[in-house]
Amino acid sequence: MGKYQLFVCKVCGDPYLGTGAPSRCPFCGAHEENVVPMDEWGPVWGKPISDISKKHLEEALQLEVGATNFYRNVSKFSKDVWAQKMFKALMKAEKEHAEAIVKILGADMPNIEEMELEEDKARETIEENLAETRKREENAVEVYKMAAAESPDEAVKYFFGELMKIEADHILLTE
Ligand SMILES: [Fe+2]
Ligand SMILES: [Fe+2]
Repeated sequence: MGKYQLFVCKVCGDPYLGTGAPSRCPFCGAHEENVVPMDEWGPVWGKPISDISKKHLEEALQLEVGATNFYRNVSKFSKDVWAQKMFKALMKAEKEHAEAIVKILGADMPNIEEMELEEDKARETIEENLAETRKREENAVEVYKMAAAESPDEAVKYFFGELMKIEADHILLTE
């Protein structure tokens, strides 16, 4: 066991106290190699970014906000305890992603709870909610793959590459 110390996630920037890097960032779900001791972490944001990266980040923000709302609704309205927990966990991860994007963009966080879209309402059954989850996560993987390929800024490219892996993990939960 390593020493109890401060780690920071390279994807979401959140701090974590522990004796080693967890296999996934407890906040955003980033893979282990992204959670590094504080002295190995340096803020990568704050530099000006290209319009192409900005466009991809804005599109990603919409997906993340929509997913946050959908998962929140499913968690809130499910009577099934497994679904309550599962969709709460997903909601928290997607909210972290939205917050990370806002940080990179230097924008304000949209008022997520007030964005009650019809398409983000919970479906009737767990099966339907899992199918909708799968659809959203598969779409996110595709969109982020493209964004990683097209973003000229190294930090944004890296961010989308890692985000893609997290959403791919989420797909596994629907199997
Ligand atoms: Fe993270
Ligand atoms: Fe996400």
